[in-house]
Amino acid sequence: MRFDHRHLLGIEALRPDEIVTLLDLADRYVALGRQQEKHASLLTGRTQINMFFETSTRTQASFELAGKRMGADVMSMAMQASSIKKGETLIDTALTLNAMHPDLLIVRHPHSGAVALLAQKVNCAVINAGDGRHEHPTQALLDALTIRRRKGRLHRLTVAICGDIAHSRVARSNILLLHKLENRVRLVGPPTLLPSGIEDFGVEVTHDMREGLADADVVMMLRLQKERMDGGFIPSEREYYHRYGLDAEKLAHAKEDAIVMHPGPMNRGVEIDGTLADDINRSVIQEQVEMGVAVRMAAMDLLARNLRARPTEVMA
Ligand code: NCD
Repeated sequence: MRFDHRHLLGIEALRPDEIVTLLDLADRYVALGRQQEKHASLLTGRTQINMFFETSTRTQASFELAGKRMGADVMSMAMQASSIKKGETLIDTALTLNAMHPDLLIVRHPHSGAVALLAQKVNCAVINAGDGRHEHPTQALLDALTIRRRKGRLHRLTVAICGDIAHSRVARSNILLLHKLENRVRLVGPPTLLPSGIEDFGVEVTHDMREGLADADVVMMLRLQKERMDGGFIPSEREYYHRYGLDAEKLAHAKEDAIVMHPGPMNRGVEIDGTLADDINRSVIQEQVEMGVAVRMAAMDLLARNLRARPTEVMA
């Protein structure tokens, strides 16, 4: 099993075979999670610290549960409420925690690149749980696992990613992953929410939902990231829903068996119709949450194996 990385900072650095290795391992953890006895002991005696500098419910809970199921001692720090308020820099906080000898740091930060910077300063493995608009690798991996299980493959599929692409690290990580495995990616959204020059990434771009969804195997909706907007990106939520909100009528343009995804948290009635989001025949949103725990267990497993392989190495 080859996974030659000390950290998991983004999809960009992963080879296609490493992605497949991780997904295969995650499949085994899905099975474990469905048993009554859910424990694997691979991280027994290891310390995992979750540092979330941005609010999160599902991602933080998912990492916490994944670590506990692997047998690690897990500590979650509410970073907004702690030293950051007292003016300590990100690096000082990291060095302080590093001195307590954690084995895994799970970090979410509002600034792109902050997690990679932190990873250079610590001795343990770091997983990026979302940095600004840059990457959110475990989200793309859990999306990939959900698609692969539902569609029976993860290549030559047409995936429409719709909505607020410009502010989305989820979109970026998904585009990278889906391309590495030779899928066709279509981005759909209003011009104000599509980064300029995005066509250079080898994606198809359209501003029309019906055109974007035509013959899609997968429809991935994104949340309007209002916290990253400073006004003026959409005329109104009502108008946005009318043009870009996913409902049964727009979904009818996709393949008959197309699945509907959303990373959460959802704005019902803004980017997706509530009834459609709950339709278990089309929507795999709850499955994505389940896959999230398994993918994070697999990622921690692979990184912990690498830590064991070079236990005394200290980074500059
Ligand atoms: C995403 C995130 O934080 O980037 N959510 C998540 O991880 N479940 C997407 C979002 O916030 O819209």
